[in-house]
Amino acid sequence: MSVYELTGRKALVTGGARGLGAGMAEALARAGAAVIIADIREELGKATADSIRQSGATAEFVPLDVTDDASWEHAISRAISDLGGLDILVNNAGVEITSLFVDLDPADVRRMLDVNLLGVALGIKHAFLAMRPGGAAGQGGSVINVASVAATIAFPGIAVYSATKSGVDRLSRVAAMESGKLGYGVRVNCLCPGLVATEMGMQLAQDVAALGLYPSPEHAVGDVIGLTPLGRLGEVADMADAMVFLASEGSRFITGALLPVDGGMGM
Ligand SMILES: NC(=O)c1ccc[n+]([C@@H]2O[C@H](COP(=O)([O-])OP(=O)(O)OC[C@H]3O[C@@H](n4cnc5c(N)ncnc54)[C@H](O)[C@@H]3O)[C@@H](O)[C@H]2O)c1
Repeated sequence: MSVYELTGRKALVTGGARGLGAGMAEALARAGAAVIIADIREELGKATADSIRQSGATAEFVPLDVTDDASWEHAISRAISDLGGLDILVNNAGVEITSLFVDLDPADVRRMLDVNLLGVALGIKHAFLAMRPGGAAGQGGSVINVASVAATIAFPGIAVYSATKSGVDRLSRVAAMESGKLGYGVRVNCLCPGLVATEMGMQLAQDVAALGLYPSPEHAVGDVIGLTPLGRLGEVADMADAMVFLASEGSRFITGALLPVDGGMGM
């Protein structure tokens, strides 16, 4: 059996209803894992789980607002009872609200801090509680936190988003250290995608053009491609395959790492 196989593993993907999260849930299922899609978008999340089930895999939807501690408790205990355990958590849910500093709206700043930072911190909390020895799942596991190339570069119009994603990197490293020191058996890593043409990615291109930072969304995308040694945008599968690696035994001696999956843009 390949070390990248996930047969028998149980995974929960936040923000799995669409975009990168949906692609990651599909990739986990293809690698053999049973998957829970956890999202605030119920209809879309159920449809994504249905479509994964049609391929023969085990997939369920659980409602989750990552900013809410009680919602996490419920989602994790549902995941463990539906799947019979939990070994993999992908903290993928995130929001991006583009703004120049001079226009910053405190409500938007708080929203990004809430979803991107508090949401990931609570995810790590509940994964550790469940996966560490004596927890309801109790077999250790792998947590993958989705940050962004924005954590490593300075792209205009996304200052607060970028700060939250740098924070996700730091959360991941301290979590990896705590887990190791306390013998939880949980690896924690951070995946940094480059720009991908999901709804979020394309909205960003439109927003930076609307702010006057680029003549058009196409110029913004062209600039990103120009800054990328591999010369193209990322694809959902690029991120999903790298995430499967971090979830699998293939990465068994990797923890606290930041893995750029950005065609070299952030180096
Ligand atoms: N698309 C890109 O170019 C890109 C690049 C780098 C990093 N990322 C990161 O990848 C992740 C996924 O991005 P995407 O492009 O698929 O975005 P998306 O907007 O297409 O999907 C995000 C998903 O997260 C869910 N979500 C939002 N708030 C939530 C909450 N409070 N609780 C639970 N779920 C919630 C949404 O309902 C949605 O299904 C995000 O963390 C994003 O910051 C994306």
